[in-house]
Order: sequence, then structure tokens, then C-alpha cells
Amino acid sequence: MALDRKPVPNDLSAFWMPFTANRQFKKAPRMLVGASGMFYHTADGREVLDGTAGLWCCNAGHCRPRITQAIQEQAAELDYAPAFQMGHPKAFELASALRDMAPEGMEHVFFTNSGSESVETALKIAIAYHRARGEGARTRLIGRERGYHGVNFGGISVGGIVNNRKMFGTLLGGVDHLPHTHLPDQNAFTRGQPEHGAHLADDLERIVALHGAETIAAVIVEPMAGSTGVLMPPKGYLERLREICTKHGILLIFDEVITGFGRLGSAFAADHFDVMPDMMTVAKGLTNGVIPMGAVLTTPAIHDAFMQGPEHVIELFHGYTYSGNPIAAAAGLATLETYREEGLFENAASLASYWEDALHSLKDQPHVIDIRNMGLVGAIELEPIAGDPTRRAFGAFLAAYEKNLMIRTTGDIIALSPPLIIGKAEIDRIVETLSEVLRTLD
Ligand SMILES: Cc1ncc(COP(=O)(O)O)c(C=O)c1O
Repeated sequence: MALDRKPVPNDLSAFWMPFTANRQFKKAPRMLVGASGMFYHTADGREVLDGTAGLWCCNAGHCRPRITQAIQEQAAELDYAPAFQMGHPKAFELASALRDMAPEGMEHVFFTNSGSESVETALKIAIAYHRARGEGARTRLIGRERGYHGVNFGGISVGGIVNNRKMFGTLLGGVDHLPHTHLPDQNAFTRGQPEHGAHLADDLERIVALHGAETIAAVIVEPMAGSTGVLMPPKGYLERLREICTKHGILLIFDEVITGFGRLGSAFAADHFDVMPDMMTVAKGLTNGVIPMGAVLTTPAIHDAFMQGPEHVIELFHGYTYSGNPIAAAAGLATLETYREEGLFENAASLASYWEDALHSLKDQPHVIDIRNMGLVGAIELEPIAGDPTRRAFGAFLAAYEKNLMIRTTGDIIALSPPLIIGKAEIDRIVETLSEVLRTLD
């Protein structure tokens, strides 16, 4: 029997790690055993500067006492309450706090447990919304090349990253894609939003002409594409998308899983770009990454379309066992308070130009073919090794870790998204370390 098995010290074989080169990792594990503020502590006794806020989620830094305490207290007071047909105060409080922080017009909150689930939820709400108002033919979903919307079937169908799609069959039917907005020939080394590319939003008109607006439920985009390697929206692009969606009665969903909670120096990208979607998906920074939780925010028009029929009947046949889980809700409330009290979004905004100058100082380092930045996000794109894509950036990731800096890479792009508690000295340290790393790479 499995339980009779003797524990094997340091047995790494059972855990099939997500989005990881498992064999490489298990030969030379990178084990994090603690964290505090801007730093991770490793099993081999080092302090590693967190250049990525975990996975774009620990915006307030690590092991913040207020959040830890809120979780401990909530676990002792009310551990779990059924999410269906029952409620508990903290889920309502968090929904209200989120609404108050969100751009005006985002009035209702549906809780999920991750970014992927937020995306599935938003896509389902979009289709069901049209049906509820008598436009049941609007079922098509439009995503964008290079988009990342998590890993569930809806998300990879509207997503546009080939490796996340090609192994998994035919995906969802009735999906189309806008072109991505990466135009390196025209926009390389842009600071902030690129000048060129607004016209790429017009492709939505082509898609409408091809399928008929009356078959299209929603367009989903990341206002700033993160996981594909940080692509800023060209000037005027999001405005154009908004205009075309409105013109054709198509819902616009902003996937703010990365851009939410101060990453660009405003609470949400919708504020930052001053473009209002019909729905927003969030996760990650909602609980500072500490407890899984996501949410979908909607306008009253969408929410109210469901509030019909007999009052004892469920309006939306969707939800998760852990939607609005008490401990996650407590973590969310403590997180939003931390952001507000410590002025962390303001800190991100005030450091954005220092961050920009620091990153762009790497322009002449070996292999660098583009640098992009906004708020406290940055990307350094490297020339791939001919015939061996991703190897150079992965080498940078390993070398940086050796030098006590955690970065993320995707393809041959280094992506940076430090906790918003960062200061100038730590920005300098990130850039100095990267400069050393780039000079040692093959
Ligand atoms: C824009 C976006 N959407 C969705 C997701 C998926 O979130 P999760 O990994 O919590 O499912 C991510 C994760 O990075 C993301 O960046």
C-alpha cells in the first residue's frame, strides 16, 4: 500500500511541475524556502531579489504582516462557507472594496479562484448575457494572437500562444483572432506606448465583415500583453477597439490579471489608458498572490440582464466551490488595504520614469534587440541563438538566479515586474545584475 512506503528524503519525482522544464529543474533544483519584502530566501541560504513579484502577483511584497494576520484570524473564525445559496460577510465586503477601487461603471463582482477561471467566467457571462437579452446567435469570441488568458479551454482558444494551443486538440469552436501588435521594425526601444499599430484594431472590422456582428459575443484582450513578453498597446489602439466593439454591440473584455492592482501605476489598465471595457478579469494581485482568488467585474447592464424571472430561480448557472472563500476574501481585503495605506500604486507611478531610464540603459548590452517598459513592467528582448530559440534567455534566467536576482523569461524575452514596494536602490541592483548577466551570455 502506498502509505507503507518509506519517505525518501529529497524525492522530487512525484510533483509534475507546471510550466517548468521538469527534468532540468530536478537535476538542479531552485528551492525557495522563505520570503520577506523584496526577497526570497533559498534552500542554499541566499537572499534573492524578486524581480517578478513572484509570478506578477505579490505586488505588496512578501509575507506582509497585515495579510498574514488576516488569514490566520479568518481561518480560526470561519474556515469555509458554502459558496452557493449561502453567504458570509467578507465576500460582500471584498466585492464592495473591489468595486470602489475599480473604474467607474464596474459595479458587480463574480469571484473565481484564478485568472484562468476568471477568463472562463467572463467568456461564459458574455455569451449568456447576449442570450438573456434575446441575441442568442452572438456566441463567437474574438481573442488576439500572442494573447495569454490562462490555460483552460476557453482561455487557450481565445489565447494566441502556439505552444499553449497546439497540443490540445481542436479547442473551442467559433473563435477568431486579431493580429498581435508587436511591430519591432517600427517600435523598437519605445518608452511607454508605441507610436505605430493603432490600425491593427481595424482588423476587428474585417472579422465583423467575415462573420457578421450579430454572431459575435465579445472581444477579449490584455490591455498590455504580459505573458507573451510584454507588449504595450500602440497609441490609439485600445480606443479604436472600444469604438468598434461599441459600434457593433460586441462586449469588450479586458483581461487585467497582470495589469490590475497598480502594475502600470494606476489601479487598473482601464484607468491608465482611460478606456472602459464591459468586463474586467482579475486575479494575482487581488490577494497579493497569497491565496488563490480571481474575479470578474461587470457593468450593471450585464449583471442586470440576468436579474429576471422568478426570484427563487438561480440566475447564472455558474460558480466554484471556492468562489469568495472566506480566507481568500480576508486576504483580499487586507491586500487592498495594504495597497491603499502604503500608497503602492502611487509608488509605482512615481518610480516609473526612474525604472524606464534604468532599463533603457541596457540598450547597448550584448544580444539586446528591444527594450519595452511602462509603470513597473519591463521587457528586454534578446536576439535568439540561431536555430535554438529560448536557450539564450533561459541562460539569462539561470545566470541571474546565480547572482541572486529572480527574473522571468518567455521565449527570448526577459520580463520584469517587481513588487510595487521597490525602491531606487533595488532598481539599480536589478539593472546592474542584468548588465553583468548579459555580458556573460553565449
Ligand atoms: C492576462 C492573464 N490572464 C490569465 C492568466 C491566468 O491566470 P492563472 O495562472 O491564475 O490561472 C494570466 C496568468 O499569468 C494572465 O497573465
